[in-house]
Amino acid sequence: MIKIGIIGLSRRSGIITNFLPRNKAEIAAVADLESEKLDAFTQCKFKTTDYRELLKRDELDAVFIMTRDYEHEKICIDALQAGKTVYLEKPMAITIEGCDRILKTAVQTKTGLFPGHNMRYMPVILKMKELIDSGIIGNIQAVWCRHFVSYGSCYFRHWCSERKNSGGLLLQKGAHDIDVIHWLCGSYTARVTGMGKLSVYNKTKKRKTNEKPDRELAFKNKCWPPLEETGFSPIIDIEDHNMILMTLANGIQCSYMQCFYTPDSERNYTFIGTAGRLENIGDTGNCEIHVWTSRGSRQKPDKIYRLKKQTGGHGGADPAIISDFIDFAADNTVSKISPIAARNAVAVGVLGHLSARNGSVPRNIIQPEKNILKYFAFPRK
Ligand SMILES: NC(=O)c1ccc[n+]([C@@H]2O[C@H](COP(=O)([O-])OP(=O)(O)OC[C@H]3O[C@@H](n4cnc5c(N)ncnc54)[C@H](O)[C@@H]3O)[C@@H](O)[C@H]2O)c1
Repeated sequence: MIKIGIIGLSRRSGIITNFLPRNKAEIAAVADLESEKLDAFTQCKFKTTDYRELLKRDELDAVFIMTRDYEHEKICIDALQAGKTVYLEKPMAITIEGCDRILKTAVQTKTGLFPGHNMRYMPVILKMKELIDSGIIGNIQAVWCRHFVSYGSCYFRHWCSERKNSGGLLLQKGAHDIDVIHWLCGSYTARVTGMGKLSVYNKTKKRKTNEKPDRELAFKNKCWPPLEETGFSPIIDIEDHNMILMTLANGIQCSYMQCFYTPDSERNYTFIGTAGRLENIGDTGNCEIHVWTSRGSRQKPDKIYRLKKQTGGHGGADPAIISDFIDFAADNTVSKISPIAARNAVAVGVLGHLSARNGSVPRNIIQPEKNILKYFAFPRK
């Protein structure tokens, strides 16, 4: 039985209490700064407001780090140094240097590091990967991804709204899609150019500094139109739409756009190769992948793959990633998700924002040191 600790009883940590495979793992300790959250948590006896006390517990095999983005780096380094196998929520950290410090510590301590990139387990992503790897659309040359976020106002109501906490939404949300693009294209971004703007939520009504944010409001359909919404963070300095152009090291060119004030929600990818094109229609639930391999209309793809709805958050990805992490912690196998990939998703987000905030000047992405790359050689199986 794997004994786990949870650091941060965050909204996101619900995936552990909901999906932990109880036949293989048990929650033995939790840490959170808020004692009310600890009092309400009844699934284990050891509870602390100081995560370092949790890390001292010998019986723990692994920890989930579920705190906010700006708290990942320090807690992760401490956990790796304590010899606990780590599940680290995305984004790995909010700076490239922070990610590199995490990677270096994982190499030095030889402790397991598993990045929480749950989109790697989404059925629609797995199917698109399988199709691309089969060669059905030839060699990919161009990629397009647009992410509409109807509940996007939530990021402008809480901690995320400040650059010092999240870096911006190319990291907080974009890290997922950037990682998917890298994974399906088999290469990392070498050069990124960005554009982005705070164009809507800067015109909305802010809440008082002492008022708590209502995090659920943004998920309700009544929360519309954006300019009439209320209850926003007193400080907003992140962009509400971003666009980046990426040139991957293998020459594939990609475009990614995210927008946080749309009426509808979807992650929509298209991969275009030398022998065809594929596109997902819907990203969770009963979604489809359309594939064109001969000339004809957009309305009539050559093949449609229909995916069935799966239970569990993010289209079934959340239970799958939790289960995989427990197996990883149990037999010390190699993580399916390369820590280098998690670092490189952050690198694109950071440098995409830097480019956007400084006249769209292209930025080159430098890879980590050779010994780090070698240690995490991808895929490492
Ligand atoms: N993979 C996904 O699909 C996905 C989805 C949502 C959020 N996330 C990630 O999950 C993480 C948590 O986000 P959230 O919005 O749910 O957080 P949250 O704001 O709901 O909660 C953060 C919690 O961490 C606690 N905390 C802060 N510092 C701590 C410390 N030093 N020790 C112990 N506890 C501490 C806080 O008291 C709070 O309870 C973020 O990194 C976010 O990016 C991932």
